[in-house]
Amino acid sequence: MYTFTLNNGLKIPAIGFGTYKAGLDSIIKALEEGYRYFDTASYYGNEGDISLALIRTGIKREEVFIASKIWKSDMGYENTLKAFSQTLENLGSEYADVIMIHWPRPNLNDEEWKALDLETWRAMEYLYSQGKIKALGLSNFLPYHAENIFSRCEVMPSVAQFEFHPGHTQAFALEYYRRKGIQVQAWSPMGRGRVLDDVLIRELSGKYHVTPAQVCIRFCIQEGVMPLPKASSPERMRENLACMDFVIDDEDMSRIENMPPLGWSGEHPDRERVKI
Ligand SMILES: NC(=O)c1ccc[n+]([C@@H]2O[C@H](COP(=O)([O-])OP(=O)(O)OC[C@H]3O[C@@H](n4cnc5c(N)ncnc54)[C@H](OP(=O)(O)O)[C@@H]3O)[C@@H](O)[C@H]2O)c1
Repeated sequence: MYTFTLNNGLKIPAIGFGTYKAGLDSIIKALEEGYRYFDTASYYGNEGDISLALIRTGIKREEVFIASKIWKSDMGYENTLKAFSQTLENLGSEYADVIMIHWPRPNLNDEEWKALDLETWRAMEYLYSQGKIKALGLSNFLPYHAENIFSRCEVMPSVAQFEFHPGHTQAFALEYYRRKGIQVQAWSPMGRGRVLDDVLIRELSGKYHVTPAQVCIRFCIQEGVMPLPKASSPERMRENLACMDFVIDDEDMSRIENMPPLGWSGEHPDRERVKI
């Protein structure tokens, strides 16, 4: 299995399964198709399905990586400890592999968000020191949000997750986290399907004899970014995992990197959601 190695030495699979809006059946299928990293969040309401899926498939907990996130309303030191303990109960597990702060500014009008992020981080550091979390992460943190954590943290983040796909690569944030040695993860690596019909993605799909989804996923991998594709059918799950046998050449990588903006979700950590 292809892996990425985090800055604390933890090796994780190079492709994870995104579980937003995925139910028990999808998670069971994803396990059967070979996914061993699951990206969930307390907000998704399906942590318990991952636990159930492991029981149903007989796959051992320690063979799988589970990442979850602290939701906006659960931030702060005590709240985070409480939310994490609920996550563990849902997962039926003694530990989580990765825990992230889901959004850096839970309330855009709250001028104290920096203090709230640090309190949340402090609780995560405590759980990390107790061996309850294997790696800590930031989700939807722009570099300036992350700087606040770096200014005071004792445990460095290992993972930074944000929207990343052809047409929306957030190049500045990507380069920033690369320089810091933090593993970037791509949420919506196919722009939730919005980029699959793009003319360049279609052209490259023909050129490399792969599907448009595979171009998007392979693009992430070659950027050193871990994609978290979500799919519902076993065929698509398999297709999305089968991205290691071809290479997008440098010229085509740069064409994707420089294609016009496309497929943005409308979500930005410092703005109200834009309806697309
Ligand atoms: N941290 C955050 O704030 C955040 C935000 C958003 C997402 N995420 C994470 O990132 C994961 C992935 O993002 P996402 O679910 O938004 O979008 P995505 O993975 O880019 O796209 C999923 C969509 O693409 C379709 N699809 C999957 N494989 C396909 C294929 N081979 N060919 C054609 N269509 C295909 C799926 O359809 P079917 O399901 O019908 O197969 C689904 O509609 C989420 O599940 C979640 O874990 C995190």
